[in-house]
Order: sequence, then structure tokens, then C-alpha cells
Amino acid sequence: MCGIVGYVGPREAAPFLVEGLARLEYRGYDSAGVAVLNGAGVETRKLAGRIAGLRELLTRTPVHGRCGIGHTRWATHGAPTERNAHPHTDCTRTLALVHNGIIENADVLRKRLEQDGHRFVTETDTETLVHLIEESPGATLEARVIAALDHVEGTYGIAVVAEADPGKIVVARRGSPVLLGVGDGEFLVASDASAVLGHTRSVVYLNDGDVAVVTPEGYRVLDRDAREQDRAVDDIEWDLDAIALGGYPHFMLKEICEQAETVRSTLRGRLLVAEGTARLNGLNLTAEDCRAIQRVVIVACGTSWHAGLVGRHVIEELVGIPVSVEYASEYRYRRQLHLPGTVTIAISQSGETADTLEALRAARAGGSTVLGLVNVVGSTIAREADGGLYLHAGPEIGVASTKAFTSQVVALLLLGLYLGRQRELSGEEGRRLAAQLARLPELVERTLAVEPQVRALAERYADARNALYLGRGATFPVALEGALKLKEISYIHAEGYPAAEMKHGPIALIDENMPVVCLAPKDPVYAKVVSNMQEVKARGGRIIAITSEGNGDLSKLADHQIAVPTSPPLIAPVLTVIPLQLLAYHIAVLRGCDVDRPRNLAKSVTVE
Ligand code: G6P
Repeated sequence: MCGIVGYVGPREAAPFLVEGLARLEYRGYDSAGVAVLNGAGVETRKLAGRIAGLRELLTRTPVHGRCGIGHTRWATHGAPTERNAHPHTDCTRTLALVHNGIIENADVLRKRLEQDGHRFVTETDTETLVHLIEESPGATLEARVIAALDHVEGTYGIAVVAEADPGKIVVARRGSPVLLGVGDGEFLVASDASAVLGHTRSVVYLNDGDVAVVTPEGYRVLDRDAREQDRAVDDIEWDLDAIALGGYPHFMLKEICEQAETVRSTLRGRLLVAEGTARLNGLNLTAEDCRAIQRVVIVACGTSWHAGLVGRHVIEELVGIPVSVEYASEYRYRRQLHLPGTVTIAISQSGETADTLEALRAARAGGSTVLGLVNVVGSTIAREADGGLYLHAGPEIGVASTKAFTSQVVALLLLGLYLGRQRELSGEEGRRLAAQLARLPELVERTLAVEPQVRALAERYADARNALYLGRGATFPVALEGALKLKEISYIHAEGYPAAEMKHGPIALIDENMPVVCLAPKDPVYAKVVSNMQEVKARGGRIIAITSEGNGDLSKLADHQIAVPTSPPLIAPVLTVIPLQLLAYHIAVLRGCDVDRPRNLAKSVTVE
């Protein structure tokens, strides 16, 4: 949800800004811009459109200077036009600012600032910030930024430059991520590590409430009372290869095809097959803590919420405690029940989703222990949680989440195994599950071999206008996820439904034009799903069955069947989701859609 960058050092800033923005484009891609201090003042270049356009604009009309900021936008307030694109400037055009987040009291502030004579030129909430800084007192830019932020309600990650303070970027964060890249005599500012990795592996993650002052001589981190803070320098663990296409046409396909490896990496060093358990030191829970858990609440959004639904089956089955799975955006505004023994798990690929972060904070305020299941190391949720598990799936760039989902399910299986063994799961059951999990990367590899079959299916259904996905038990969330993948990237309307619940509504939609994807792996409800497929068949629906190798032949019932390797029911979601990811991908490609950057979406949703 918007990406921000900054550069200050001995070299030209613009190339650093554009390179950083290109890596952050997954965060938003409707408009972009840069502002550079050119020695005489603030010079901006911006446009509606993508970073490639900004790069061309800067080739035609370059900006020169060694200190600058940039932004790629996902519009919230105001249409994605050149005028509304960041950076925004004050009335005198001597200050420029980029912002990620939402200023909630923007209307009130704007009214007041206009009455005081400030001239607004955009429809954005962000512009209020730059006028506020313009009129705030202070001898330095940081003093003025701190004074201005006192009037602001909402969330922000900002970077500000000023003609009066050349060679300095002031950064502040509350609720939206910002980090500093530490180079040799030069410093970068970015929403995430991918934007600085081409130049340095050393980063400083800022905390909420921090204000950082960055110059070629170094950086200082202050709190809101301008007191100096100590922030550690961290190392980025992955390298540029992880964020390159590596010969694939799209990141989404690359990430789907990586899943044998990413699942292996989630399991690595954690699975104790002989003992029939897992080693999860990061949870920071003692054996006694584990036994005291009476209830688990999972909070998440989007694909991570679907993983949470699988997690409910996993934890209830293996640990024997009740689990509720909540949309983070709903949960955070409900009354928090102070139930002793509650553990809340926030699931988030990015670790920055605003609603998930706030749900985690609400749960903590309600007395719950909070854990994070997060992919991005050093992200806000990872740092705020009491403990948790990193997915270790590597950077996910495609806006439609794929490898993060399978790793989330695997992490939940590890958690279920570990907690289960502290409670009612026997050594023998634990060893059986651990051995099955150890084989999972190989099963994922075999599942990926269905791609040619799925591609042929995609050709058959690329023109569909609607699609229905049905599943039951632990595979019902896979139906939701398959439908989400299709609608996100191909813009075909798709719904996921519990297979039996179809009778209570969606069955009315079924005719010979409706593809119905039926998830029928080998599990205790297989026969029931087959009955549901009969109901679809009787209404002329086109059945695409995702089944297991060990199941019988469904060719009399299904128009198409795709078999994945047989696995225990709790593990099946990791395999059955793969053909659905591939189906959505190939349909979107055939429809000419921008798979990695679907319209209106952003990878990291840091606004409510
Ligand atoms: C956005 C992304 C989804 C993702 C969701 C939650 O909507 O497009 O792919 O599932 O946010 O993100 P998180 O980073 O919290 O998992």
C-alpha cells in the first residue's frame, strides 16, 4: 500500500529512487514520483502510471541532486492522477513529502489550514501533512516534523526533504513500515528491504513513533520528544536472486513453482521425526504455557485468513482446543473478551497488514498472549508479537499470494504437532505426522507436474464469466482460496462454498456455462463430496474435480479430473491448492491480464 524511498549520499539520487521504487511497485502502482534537492530548490517529477513511465520521464527531463525521495502510489484519497501523485509540496515549494498510510483527520486539518491561507492543489489526505510542516515552528526540519505530527491522527510512514535543510531526509513512522538502509557514506530509506538490497544488506527497522534524521554523515533516531533512541542494525538474510524473475515470465508462476523448496524451508530444522514433534523455540512458550492454553484465536486477512481456516482444523484435531478464525478487520472493532488461557495468532505474509496488526494489539490489550506467523523478517507484527514462527518462504512479489499460503499451512501443522505433543497427541501419532510432513516437499514437487493438464483446462475455461469452487472439511478453505486467486488476477467472478452448503443458494446459479471446481481429496468426507458433485452434474454444471491418486475414477461424473498425490486430510490443502493456483494463473495469462499487478490491488495493505 504505497511504497516510499529516499537517498542521501555522494551520488545522484534519482537512479537510486527509481530502482527502489521498481522493487516496491508491488505495494501500489497507479502513479509515481520523485523529488530531489537540486542545490537551488526542490524539483519534482511525477505522473499517473507505473515506474517504467517515471523512468522514461526522468530520461527525457532529468533531475540532478544528491538527496531525494520517491513514491509509488495505491490511491486512497483522490484519483490516481499526476496531480495527486506524491511527492507533495508546500505553498512555497520548498518542502516535499512522501507518505504511506491514511491521515484520518485530514478533512478537519485541511479546513483549518485553508482558513489560515494555505493553498491546496490535490485531493489527497497527504497534502495536509506538508502544509502542517510548513507552518510548524522549529529550527530544524526534524523539529518541524515532530511538531506537525502532534496534530495528526491516523497512520503514516513519511519521508520529507526541505530546501532549508539540504542533504537531509527526515523520516517518521506510525503504523506504516519504514526502514533505513545503511551504506558507506550513503543512506537509503524504504518501505521494505527489497528496495535497498541492491546497495546494502544492513538495515535499521524503525519502530512506531520513531523519527529518523538521515544525512550523508549518518543517521539519528529520535522519539517524539526528540530524545535519541538506540536502534540495532540488522542484516537482510536473502539476496537479490530471491527477488528476480529467474527466467519465469511472472513472479506468480515462479512462486508457485518454488513451493517444494519453500515448504522445505518452512520445515527445515524444525521437524523432529524420531521424537514425533517439532522444535519451535521462537514461540517463547514453556511446556507449562502450552498446557495452559484453553483457546486459540486466529486473526488474519485475505489468503492468510484462508490459511487460518485450515489452521482451525489442524489445531482442533491435533491439540483438542477450540479455535476461532477472525477477519482481523472485524475482530479489532469487537468487544474483547478477557478469557484466560487465550492465545491469539496473527497470520500475515507481510507482517504489515494494518488490520492484522491492530487486531493483534487489541488481543494483547484484552490480555491474550500474541503469536505471529509471518514471512517478512523484522516486520512490525513479527516484532510486536510475544513469539511466533517465521515462514522462511523468501520474498513473495506476486500480488496474489501463493507460496506464503502453503508455508502458512505447513507452519500451522508444525504448531499443531508441537502443541499437540504437549497435550493429547501420542508419540506414535506424532511420529506418523512428522514422517508425513517430512515427505511433503516431494509430494509438492509431484503435484507441480499437473501444470500441462491445468494449462489445457485453462484454455477451455478462459472465457468463463463465473466459477464456483466447492470443498469440505480442511479443504473447504482451499475452495475459498482457489476462488480468490481466480477473481484477483483474471477478474472472473468466483465463489468458494462448502460443498454441502451449495444447496442453500449457489445451486440456483448452476447451468451448462458454470465451471464448478470440486475439491475431492482422499478424506473421510470424500463420499459426501461425490454426492455433491452428483447434484452439480444433475444441473448441467461443468465439473473440474481435484482428487487424490488413490481415489476411484471420477470420469463418469466429472468433465475433467486432476489427481494430486494422496496425503492425510490435514496435509491435503497444501497439495490441492496447487492446481487451483495454476488454473488462475493460466486463465489470467490467456485473458491478457497483468498477473503480478492486478488492477486495484496491492500486496501489502497498510491502510484499514
Ligand atoms: C492483500 C494481498 C493478499 C494477502 C492479504 C493479507 O490483500 O493482496 O495476497 O493475502 O493482503 O496480507 P498479509 O501480508 O497480511 O498476509
